Amino acid sequence: MRSAKDFFRPLAVGAPQPLREIPFRPSRMIHFFDPGNEKMAAKVPDLVPKVDVLLGNLEDAVRADRKEASRAGLVAVARATDFGDTQLWTRVNSLDSPWGLDDLLTLVTEIGDKLDVIMVPKVEGAEDIHYVDRLLAQLEAKAGLTRPILVHAILETARGVANVEEIAGASPRMQGMSLGPADLAASRRMKTTRVGGGHPGYLVRTDPTGDDLTAGRHTYQQDLWHYTVARMVDACAAHGILPYYGPFGDIRDVVACEDQFRNAFLLGCVGAWSLHPAQIDIARRVFSPSPDEVAWARKVIAAMGDGTGAVMIDGKMQDDATVKQCRVVAELADALAARDPELAKAYAEASHD
Ligand code: GLV
Ligand code: MG
Repeated sequence: MRSAKDFFRPLAVGAPQPLREIPFRPSRMIHFFDPGNEKMAAKVPDLVPKVDVLLGNLEDAVRADRKEASRAGLVAVARATDFGDTQLWTRVNSLDSPWGLDDLLTLVTEIGDKLDVIMVPKVEGAEDIHYVDRLLAQLEAKAGLTRPILVHAILETARGVANVEEIAGASPRMQGMSLGPADLAASRRMKTTRVGGGHPGYLVRTDPTGDDLTAGRHTYQQDLWHYTVARMVDACAAHGILPYYGPFGDIRDVVACEDQFRNAFLLGCVGAWSLHPAQIDIARRVFSPSPDEVAWARKVIAAMGDGTGAVMIDGKMQDDATVKQCRVVAELADALAARDPELAKAYAEASHD
């Protein structure tokens, strides 16, 4: 076991000092693109102002014979683009693949100063994070980087879910975690072939109304992902890192995508992946609290003064706990408004009504 005193020491001579806290940076949508696809890469400058995070994907969905081209494409895009305060992330290939090591070696030494976060897929336990942690420190030192690159784990294996707490706390580099419903379904041998979303067969049914077991009974579809998202949110909150819902594969079904994203938002997630431009606006809408909610939160905070005691507002009891709930919403709104002028205006207008 590493001593708590050593936890924040760099893991290689000359590597940057690890962070003591993960800064909250808006990341409502992590927008995936294939940097080896010239058409997609050419659209990156237009996407920069529209998204919170751009992620150059090197892993699944990139064919084996295109892996090197995608890696080289990401280096080229990162060098050529001014990202402003939009974050640049990458998803590298898994640690057991023939490409994972070269992805890390190339990206950190060539564009480490541009990369905010490295998403590591198929993380099984703390040992995977420890491996990446040390390697990144060595590479950061070699590249002369002054700011540590953060790590984001995808929760997409049964063993990863069983080890979710130790993964979340494995390194001061841990920025967050995303649910990967496709790989996770396969790893668990779930019988859904969808990428996220519900399944009509996963339901509960009301009691029989008489002898006919089919008459008058209502069914309610249940959420296949509730358990895992809730576990992930708790593990992330306990370790001061950020939880995200991952991909929603039915691009055409923007309605169900919005439902899935909203469930994740309400449970505590700060963002989701967008796999198609149509999902960018959904994520922006869902992961930004509504102006009414923000106005309400600010009203409660103002009425609660020092945050102790109890008051009634519009017939609803407020106390020390509810003011904390309201601060979560108001602080998120402030952070998002600082990046999103349209949102800032909507929040200001709603709060002055
Ligand atoms: C994402 O990587 C997933 O497997 O769902
Ligand atoms: Mg996956």
